[in-house]
Amino acid sequence: MTIKEEILKLKKEKNAVILAHCYQNIEIDEVADFVGDSLYLSQTAAKTDADIIVFAGVYFMAETAKILAPEKKVLLPRLESGCLMADMINLQQLREFKAKHPNIPTVCYINSTAAVKSECDICCTSSNAVKIVESLGVKEVLFAPDTYLGTWVQSKLKDVKVITYPGFCPTHLRITPEDVNQKRKKYPEALVLTHPECHQEVIKLSDYVGSTTGIMNFAAQSDKKQFIIATEMGVVERLQRDYPEKEFILISPKAICPNMKWNHLEDILNSLKYEQYEINVDPEIAKKAITCIDRMLGVSK
Ligand code: 13P
Ligand code: SF4
Repeated sequence: MTIKEEILKLKKEKNAVILAHCYQNIEIDEVADFVGDSLYLSQTAAKTDADIIVFAGVYFMAETAKILAPEKKVLLPRLESGCLMADMINLQQLREFKAKHPNIPTVCYINSTAAVKSECDICCTSSNAVKIVESLGVKEVLFAPDTYLGTWVQSKLKDVKVITYPGFCPTHLRITPEDVNQKRKKYPEALVLTHPECHQEVIKLSDYVGSTTGIMNFAAQSDKKQFIIATEMGVVERLQRDYPEKEFILISPKAICPNMKWNHLEDILNSLKYEQYEINVDPEIAKKAITCIDRMLGVSK
C-alpha cells in the first residue's frame, strides 16, 4: 500500500478528518479533506462530525480547533509547528498592553495563543479583520499581535483608532518594496496581490490586498493572466496547480514559513497511526477563549 492509501484507509477506520492550511507542503492536499485559510479551517473544525481532527497547520490552529470542538481528539502531526508571530505576545504582555490603554476593546488576530484569546474581546483572521473591528462600533480598539494587519485595518477605517501591538510575521516581513519593484519591471503586465501581514510600503505598491482566500479568489476571477503573489509560497503553488492557464510569480523565494513546512505525508500517516500529537487546552482558558472565537464566527457567518 502507498502512504497515501494507508492514510486514506486509517482516516476512514478512525473517522478522522484532515484540515490543511494553504501554506502546507502541497503534497498534503492529496489526503486532506479541507484545504484553506485560517477562517475557513476554524469554521470547518467547528462543524465537523469526525472523531479525530488532524490539523496540518501550526499550533495555534490546532488549539483553536480544540477549543471549538472540545469533544474531538485534535492532532498536530509535528509539535515543532509553531507560529513566530503568535509567540510574540504572552498573557503578561497582553495584560501590560491593555493596562497601558485601559477600557478599550481588544481584537486579537487568530494567530495567537489560547491564553491570549482568553483575555481578548473578539478574534479575527486576515479575511475578516476589517469587518470585525467595524462590528464593534467603537472609537478605539487595541489590536494584537500583528501591527501590520492592524495598520492595514486602520487604513480601511476612518472612524476608528486602531492601536496596535508591535508583533509581526517574519515570513511576510521578508518581502520588501524592492522585491515588488524588481518583479514589476520583469513582468509589467502582472497584477501584484499581497497579504495584509506585509509591510505597508509593500502594500502601497500592490494592486490588491487580501487574505489567502481573498488572493486566491481575486486571481481566479480576474481576466488578467499574470500575477505576482506577495505571500507565502504555498499559495503560489496551489494557484498554479488550479489555474494552469494563468501565470503566478512568487514575489521572492524568501516568502516561506518554515513552520508550515514540517509536515510531509509520513508525518500525517504517523499522526493518524499513533494518534500524535494530541493538543489539549486548559478547560478554564478554553471556556474564556471560545467566547472570543465564537463572536468572530458569529460576525463572519
Ligand atoms: P490566513 O490564513 O488568514 O490568510 O493567514 C495567513 C497566515 O499567516 C496563517 O498563519
Ligand atoms: Fe505565523 Fe507568519 Fe508562519 Fe503565518 S506565515 S504561521 S503568521 S509565522
